[in-house]
Amino acid sequence: MSLELRVLDDPAEEAARLLAEAARAGGAVALSGGSTPKPAYRRAAELEPDWSRVEIFLADDRCVPPEDERSNFRLVRESLGGVGARIHRIQGELPPEEAAARYDEVVRGRTLDLALLGIGADGHTASLFPNAPALDERERAAVAAEPGMEPFVPRVTLTLPILNAAGLAVFLVTGAEKRAAAARAFASEPSPATPASLVRGARTVVLLDEDAGSDLHFDAI
Ligand code: 6PG
Repeated sequence: MSLELRVLDDPAEEAARLLAEAARAGGAVALSGGSTPKPAYRRAAELEPDWSRVEIFLADDRCVPPEDERSNFRLVRESLGGVGARIHRIQGELPPEEAAARYDEVVRGRTLDLALLGIGADGHTASLFPNAPALDERERAAVAAEPGMEPFVPRVTLTLPILNAAGLAVFLVTGAEKRAAAARAFASEPSPATPASLVRGARTVVLLDEDAGSDLHFDAI
C-alpha cells in the first residue's frame, strides 16, 4: 500500500489525467459527485474522448431520480458528455434499501481499477459519514446511508470492502474548509470519526490545492 500526497496548483488537471489514463486502459472506475470533481470530469473527457473500454460506477448517490439536479449520476453523465462510457447508476428513485440491494448485486465481486473520491469538511468520503453504521459493513459492496449532509436525502454508498480493494484510490481535495479534514484523513491515525482515513487503495494518491494541503505535515506520515 502506498500513499502519495501531492499539493498542486491545479489538482483537477492531474485527476483528469489519471482518469483519462484509466479510460484508455479499460476496466472499472468509480466516480463521486459533489462540486469538486466536475472540472476534472470535463477535462478528462477532453483528454480521452473514447471511454468505451471502461465501465463507470458511482461511488455514491443521493436517493433522487436520475434527472434531479442533486443526482450524482446526472452530474457524471453531463460532465463526461458524449464519451460513450457505460455508467452503472444507482436507482435513486427507489427506496434506499432496495436501491442499495440492487446496486450491491451489480458491483459485488467487481474490482475497481480506480476510485475517484472527495472528502467533506467532516471527513466523510463517498456517503460514508463519521461513525456511521455503514463503516462496519464487511460483506456488501453497497449499502443505504443516512442523509449525513446537504442535500439531506437518503443515500446509497459503496462500502469499505470494495473501496479498499481498488487498485488506485484518488482523492481530490480543494479549499481551506477541507484543510483540517485532510490532515485528519491523510496525516493522522485512521479513525471512524474521519471515514476518509479508512479508505486506502493498493495505491492512494491525494491531490490537494494549496488551501486544502497547507496543514499536512509530510514528515508525520
Ligand atoms: C456526494 C459525494 C461526496 C463528495 C464530498 C465532497 O454525493 O456529495 O459523493 O462524498 O465527494 O461531499 O463534496 P464537494 O466536492 O461538493 O465538497
